[in-house]
Amino acid sequence: MPAIASSAPGKIILFGEHAVVYHRPAIAVPLTGVKAKVTALADPLAPAGQVKIDAPDIHLQTTLEKLPEDDPIAIVIRGVLETLGIRSLPAVTLRITSSIPASAGLGSSAAVAAALARAASTFVGHPLSDEQVSQIAFLAEQRLHGNPSGIDNSVVAHARPVYFIRGRAIEFLHLAEPFSLVIADTGVPSSTMDMVGALRERWQADPERHEAWFDRIAEIVDRARGILENGGCAELGPLMGANHDLLRTLGVSCAELDLLVEQALRAGALGAKLSGAGGGGNMIALVPAGDEERIAARLHESGAVWTRSTVVSPQGVK
Ligand code: PMV
Repeated sequence: MPAIASSAPGKIILFGEHAVVYHRPAIAVPLTGVKAKVTALADPLAPAGQVKIDAPDIHLQTTLEKLPEDDPIAIVIRGVLETLGIRSLPAVTLRITSSIPASAGLGSSAAVAAALARAASTFVGHPLSDEQVSQIAFLAEQRLHGNPSGIDNSVVAHARPVYFIRGRAIEFLHLAEPFSLVIADTGVPSSTMDMVGALRERWQADPERHEAWFDRIAEIVDRARGILENGGCAELGPLMGANHDLLRTLGVSCAELDLLVEQALRAGALGAKLSGAGGGGNMIALVPAGDEERIAARLHESGAVWTRSTVVSPQGVK
């Protein structure tokens, strides 16, 4: 049996993170220049049903039976078996690699889960649909993040721009025109579970004010959707600023993110905001075409440990 290779891209949340956990809309796009990849290679000499896991990036070399029940890798493989109605995989080595920076709001965990579900199901000759892959990746996200909205698994499994409301069918966005973004990583690791959990405590202490802030974010998301679908992308800049300010008010930004946002604007970005769970991780800046490298360099000087210039185009993000 030949080796099967499957992959899933990273993602960027353009608008609406955190409020999306509270059933407000959010917009995310795939980041196809970085990806998680899983290769499935038949192991004819291994004992029947033995699933070896080889994840060199995280120095993990083990077998499925040695993983705890609630390990995200075990959850994904079990999800595939249950969805396909089979009891085990033929003996196989699953090699997991990823070029998506981890713990940085770029969807690395969801992408690994999606690529794994796709590789395992393709290996047994029954490739799952994008939506089935998304549902299985969601199970792993629940284990890792506690109470995820489902946006990460949706965008990486479908690899298309999405307008997402928790609990509703995903809507795919058809972008009217391309625009340029610079993504920059503060280098400060942050835990999505902790950020979402801490915000929940603040929401519980003062639901009325938080609900009003979430509503304002929802308005921004809907205005951004109109621009993305109809054109005039420079207008996204002020909306990004307004969304970042509300995320600061919600308490999910940090000094490093605020500094990079400010420096991006000073260097000529049309707008900038944190992207993902915040508390560290990444920010994104909307930049005039041609200014990507210059603004990325400024962000490096201001402390970013990783930057990437991308063009978000109707076909996807490179
Ligand atoms: O996984 P991250 O860091 O991109 O954050 C996900 C976005 C949140 O809205 C903060 C959480 C969620 O489940 O939607």
